[in-house]
Amino acid sequence: MQPKKPSESITYNTDMVLPSETNALNNLFGGELLARMDRAGSIAAGRHSGNVTVTASVNHVAFKKAIPIGSVVDIEAKVSRAFTTSMEVYIDVWLQDRAHGTRTRANHAIYTFVAVDETGRPTKVPELIPETDLEKERFAGALRRKQLSLVLAGKMKAKDATELRALFMGE
Ligand SMILES: CC(C)(COP(=O)(O)OP(=O)(O)OC[C@H]1O[C@@H](n2cnc3c(N)ncnc32)[C@H](O)[C@@H]1OP(=O)(O)O)[C@@H](O)C(=O)NCCC(=O)NCCS
Repeated sequence: MQPKKPSESITYNTDMVLPSETNALNNLFGGELLARMDRAGSIAAGRHSGNVTVTASVNHVAFKKAIPIGSVVDIEAKVSRAFTTSMEVYIDVWLQDRAHGTRTRANHAIYTFVAVDETGRPTKVPELIPETDLEKERFAGALRRKQLSLVLAGKMKAKDATELRALFMGE
């Protein structure tokens, strides 16, 4: 399987915030943003793997800034590391400022997607070769985050999480 670069599957989504997507404070409802991030991430993982993907876990979400009604929201989803059948995808959310033509980072999230065949069985994905400094940094931390997610899901014993043991216990 031919390795791929993150830029080959990067996925962008630009959309605005409509009244039906807001909470009582007229800001974007968190669940709506999760769904938008899930869609963009799923497309990026699908482009990288060339297969159907399913969301295996949402490892981290930070709702740092409220997103008001009428805002133009840019979502950027990039595969940060590919394992055997799973892929970590970093999702960055930006708010466009129409008046100044600038944008600010509002939120980010880290999802895990698994490539599956037509019967829903996990299937192999190509290796990911990071290029930029940020891609290399995210790639380096991805195994640690995978192990943490597996431990929290009860799919890995803490004693087997080598990256976490190195981080917390200096082993
Ligand atoms: C995700 C799914 C395919 C995993 O199947 P499984 O039988 O547990 O398969 P495995 O244990 O072999 O795991 C497959 C990969 O997913 C990874 N994985 C599974 N659960 C994970 C979790 N909670 N966090 C991080 N990675 C996880 C495994 O580490 C493995 O990765 P690797 O092959 O790259 O090493 C299966 O649980 C599933 O279909 N879930 C439903 C997905 C879905 O419908 N999502 C939408 C929710 S509405």
